[in-house]
Amino acid sequence: MTDEKSVPEKLWGGRFSEPTDQFVERFTASIGFDARLYHHDIRGSIAHAKMLAHAGVITAAERDQIVAGLEQVRGEAERGELTWRVDLEDVHMNVESRLTALVGDVGKKLHTARSRNDQVATDIRLYLRDAIDDLLALEGELLTEIANLAERHATTVMPGFTHLQTAQPVTFGHHLLAWFEMLFRDRARLREVRTRVNVLPLGSAALAGTTFAIDREFTARELGFEAVSQNSLDAVSDRDFAIEFCAAASLTMMHLSRWCEELVLWSSQQFSFVSLPDRFCTGSSIMPQKKNPDVPELVRGKSGRVFGHLVALLTLMKSQPLAYNKDNQEDKEPLFDTVDTLRDCLTAMTGMLPHIEVDATRMRAAAAAGHATATDLADYLVRRGVPFRDAHEMVGKSVAVAQRKGKSLAELTVAELRQIPSLGNYIGDDVEEVLSLDGSVAARNHVGGTAPAQVTAAAKRARARI
Ligand code: ARG
Repeated sequence: MTDEKSVPEKLWGGRFSEPTDQFVERFTASIGFDARLYHHDIRGSIAHAKMLAHAGVITAAERDQIVAGLEQVRGEAERGELTWRVDLEDVHMNVESRLTALVGDVGKKLHTARSRNDQVATDIRLYLRDAIDDLLALEGELLTEIANLAERHATTVMPGFTHLQTAQPVTFGHHLLAWFEMLFRDRARLREVRTRVNVLPLGSAALAGTTFAIDREFTARELGFEAVSQNSLDAVSDRDFAIEFCAAASLTMMHLSRWCEELVLWSSQQFSFVSLPDRFCTGSSIMPQKKNPDVPELVRGKSGRVFGHLVALLTLMKSQPLAYNKDNQEDKEPLFDTVDTLRDCLTAMTGMLPHIEVDATRMRAAAAAGHATATDLADYLVRRGVPFRDAHEMVGKSVAVAQRKGKSLAELTVAELRQIPSLGNYIGDDVEEVLSLDGSVAARNHVGGTAPAQVTAAAKRARARI
């Protein structure tokens, strides 16, 4: 079959007259990282073999031999019995080579009407579709935990911050539901990415399509793809579906990182708003008293590698002429690591969240300390006819009075407030309620507001939206 100058052990060795340089073999191989695609590779190959038989390119008997052989290869891979060979370069040629070793020459017919270029694009899409489904489920669990915790803390008052300075009191449940909204949008984005991942490239062959009378819709149905790609050059070469996945993952990681930043701050001695479960923390090898929030710190830190993968993939693509180029082999490690990292971070957050201990007393005390209801007093004055700018000025002066007395604004008695020049005339007995933390949050009673009644309703709606 091969003349003596060719290199028969390579599946593409026909035109070569010397073996591949050993370094080049290792340098060009992807088996070290794409072996994890074997499941999807075999799934794609089984669908392809069925399509070839359906289209009359191979016989039903040949199809059955190929399919049985591929299932055997899958079993071997699952049991860890398959040796992945670097000289066979990648997962596709390792699987095909093992298939032919098992079933004989009929195995060599599998690669009819396809190329590794449409094969690898198909594999990655199958892989990513499964990965997205896993991630969507994990995000659903995390969203449920957030909604549950928010409902439990609908009346827990904490300081709300701008510029990390105490701004206005909010309920802890309301704060949590902010995270719900961010992650809810992240999940919607991931769903949208899935629709563009779920397109079949197979049939594009190397770049121009194939001379065989293939039935791409058949293959798409076999593999659960919603559509077939409409241009062979595009389908084998572009990886925008992977890039937009990494973009969606980056946004999620950015949100998780912000959230973790808060958990790190809040679990510090200075804040002491929350205490993280011991099993999600570690100690210091030198300072016996330490309990470090390693898990949220790591989630925050891992956002960096995911952002990096997004930039890596954009850079990978930006100078590639059509169609497939070997550069694309570099798409896998960033993509896999993005999936793994996001999966781990979501798992960490979901595991940690329900066990966080909340110190409602500390939160309330912190909210009370920062004159957090100053805006409420200004609004109160406005309702009594004072223009807002004047009210702002009057309350500012009242804050200064309180500070001189070593009190917070809410701690001033009605009598003390009445003594403040210009303010005094407007102060009724109802001001106490207005200045109180509970009065303040209860007053923000509209959709999207922090009032306990709103938070309870929003948490219920949130659960229904998941
Ligand atoms: N291992 C290759 C990749 O990951 C598969 C496609 C190779 N195609 C080729 N023409 N060399 O992209």
